[in-house]
Amino acid sequence: MDATPLQAWRDTLQELGVLGLVREAQPQAPPAVQPPARKVEARPALPPPKPAGVAYAPPTDPLGCPPDAAVAGAADLAALAQAIQGCLRCPLGPGRMRFVFGEGHPRARLMFVGEGPGRDEDLQGRPFVGKAGELLDRMIEALGLRREDTYIANVVKCRPPDNRTPTPDEARACLGYLRRQIELIQPAVIVTLGATPLRELVGLTDGITRIRGQWRQVKVGDRDIPVMPTFHPAYVLRQYTQEVRRAVWEDLKAAKAWVDKASS
Ligand code: URA
Repeated sequence: MDATPLQAWRDTLQELGVLGLVREAQPQAPPAVQPPARKVEARPALPPPKPAGVAYAPPTDPLGCPPDAAVAGAADLAALAQAIQGCLRCPLGPGRMRFVFGEGHPRARLMFVGEGPGRDEDLQGRPFVGKAGELLDRMIEALGLRREDTYIANVVKCRPPDNRTPTPDEARACLGYLRRQIELIQPAVIVTLGATPLRELVGLTDGITRIRGQWRQVKVGDRDIPVMPTFHPAYVLRQYTQEVRRAVWEDLKAAKAWVDKASS
């Protein structure tokens, strides 16, 4: 990709004096959200990086709807991916090249939720692998993490035509899959990228510019999970101002600090 925005992101971090520094000031506790009560277990070894996402399997069921029981009963992420990869529950299904399930550490403490696959993601079957993904990777690295330490998913698993925003019906048809993913992963913090996951997952229609950086929460299963809303990386690439970059960096630092606190 054009190296300029990424270089500029790096420059911003340098200007802010944070490049390479991730263990910073004590986090401010998100209001009304307690760190998870469960004891943090030793995490399983990181799975080897997957070259591609869930292999595309043409749907055989004419209705293409995995039964809700198969979603709720999926014991792990692999079983869930297997159950839903042929989904034709909404009009996005027939148009996809590949189903983009999501990827990352199965017990990631930090989870990112974007809107939906774009062209590169549709071709590769993996989330955030285009330009926005490159920027997301840099931001994760700047936090002192690796992409594979986190989990990255989207509200919808199939590419909306022309990269348009998924309709509320499309998002709702897919939301149960994301919620089951979250239940299985049990992240300490979810970072929502842009307005769509905030609206569809958290139920907030406030403008992202107004609400970003302010802790919210979402109940998934029996857990209230802290949510940090921030700008979508594609927006950061479009609005490449110091102000926007600084805002995202502050949001990510807050999220990471809460993850550290919840894990200590
Ligand atoms: N934008 C998203 O919201 N998700 C992706 O996976 C890629 C781009």
